[in-house]
Amino acid sequence: MPIRLSRQHERWIYLIGAILFLSGLGWLIAHNFLAAPGEFGDAHHPSEPWWLRLHGAAAMGFLMVIGSLLPGHIASAWRLRKNHRSGLFMLALVAVLLLTGYGLYYAGDEQSRPWISLIHWIAGTAAAAGLWLHIWLGKRKANMLHAVVRKPIAPDATGTAAAVAVQRKRSS
Ligand code: HEM
Ligand code: HEM
Repeated sequence: MPIRLSRQHERWIYLIGAILFLSGLGWLIAHNFLAAPGEFGDAHHPSEPWWLRLHGAAAMGFLMVIGSLLPGHIASAWRLRKNHRSGLFMLALVAVLLLTGYGLYYAGDEQSRPWISLIHWIAGTAAAAGLWLHIWLGKRKANMLHAVVRKPIAPDATGTAAAVAVQRKRSS
């Protein structure tokens, strides 16, 4: 299975990744900068649940994205050790996001929730920057390889001499 993604596959990843990141960012802005103290003292903004609804949907979509990358993109690139360092970094961040995302849903009590939330959104921001770096490194290496393969091979003097010698030997 090929490592390089089709244009359409790539676009889906960018679309779902952008919704995932922007919905997380939207929640952060609403919660930290727009919230006003409510009846019971805790600060909330009315848009917060909407950002999380969108974020939850995008997170489900992103899990499908990861699934779609595992058999081709990731398995083939891993076998050839191509762009694997930044790829592994991405997978590690996704694992942190999955675990902390699960924690935010089901495991957070009053004390641990703010920590889980902090780790989650820092990993999310790092993943957005990490993905950009991963793509840049991957495409740069692929283009360099293309340029080398396309370059016409200059006739090698020793090679030519050896070929002529073999030819002479055959014809004699
Ligand atoms: C969260 C996991 C990952 C995501 C979302 C991801 C996404 C992407 C995207 C969008 C591209 C640019 C499209 C393209 O060039 O085809 C790319 C390039 C690349 N990735 Fe990944 N990737 C992930 C993990 C990995 C891993 C684990 C590896 C290696 C073991 C890897 C190896 C590569 C390589 C070699 C390229 C350059 C392909 C080329 O242009 O020929 N990726 N990745
Ligand atoms: C694999 C990727 C991700 C998954 C599976 C995921 C999952 C989740 C889940 C399940 C929640 C809890 C929703 C709720 O309480 O209703 C959440 C909240 C949140 N996520 Fe993500 N997320 C991911 C990526 C990101 C990214 C890239 C960001 C970028 C900033 C981000 C920022 C946030 C924020 C700010 C919250 C709210 C935290 C809180 O309630 O204290 N997430 N995420």
